[in-house]
Amino acid sequence: SEILYFETVDSTNTQAKKIALQGVKDGTIIISEEQGGGRGRLSRSFFSPKYKGIWFSVILKPKFLPQEAPKCTLMAATAITKAIEDVTGVKVGIKWPNDVLYEGKKLVGILTEMNAEMDCINYIIIGMGINVNIDKEEMPEEIQNIATSLSQITGKKISRLKLLNKILYYLEHLYIICQEEGFAPILDEWRKYSITLNQHIRVIGTNEVLEGIAVDIDDDGALLVNIDGQIKRVLAGDVSIRP
Ligand code: BTN
Repeated sequence: SEILYFETVDSTNTQAKKIALQGVKDGTIIISEEQGGGRGRLSRSFFSPKYKGIWFSVILKPKFLPQEAPKCTLMAATAITKAIEDVTGVKVGIKWPNDVLYEGKKLVGILTEMNAEMDCINYIIIGMGINVNIDKEEMPEEIQNIATSLSQITGKKISRLKLLNKILYYLEHLYIICQEEGFAPILDEWRKYSITLNQHIRVIGTNEVLEGIAVDIDDDGALLVNIDGQIKRVLAGDVSIRP
């Protein structure tokens, strides 16, 4: 597929949005060495220093219903997790729906944005940020203790190119599987890496706060939470794992 490379950009997700409706191919990639205005979920900013990480977005045009969009986030998290394991040997975990963590610290952030009509998706943008070679002291103070990087974990400089290659390989592979065989095989993979399932969690959603046990993910990628014996579907929200 097509790869658009930038030295610098405000946000690869914003850049992707600008071109997504101009007839770009399914799987087009926008990647930048740095982002001046990297965006996270819940209008947070995302630290994206030059040459130190992998900051990129993929434009997908899947034949999904809008409510199936969370599948893309789970697919991306699974692809990145597998690639990190292959290239560095580091075992990381996925916190539903979109964080890849190491010992509780954030290593990867994923921001999925969608443009849809009634029952068809025009495009989905999956923005992924991987902290590769960032020293602790280089991070803003407020994230030094909640974020980490592959170089901090391994004590070595990691090849961004090798890692990106593997990520793109797994992304393409899982995307094809998802369209040809459905979502079940991806879910099976995802479950292996999940640190959310079987945990007591609190979900801060748009309108409510829920607490219960995360029991499973359904076929659309929604989290199923057991709240006092009742199963509730959670499509999006900020999850914290409670003791
Ligand atoms: C989060 O953790 O809240 C999501 C962070 C997503 C960061 C990536 S970096 C590439 C893409 N462009 C952005 O502006 N954000 C995403």
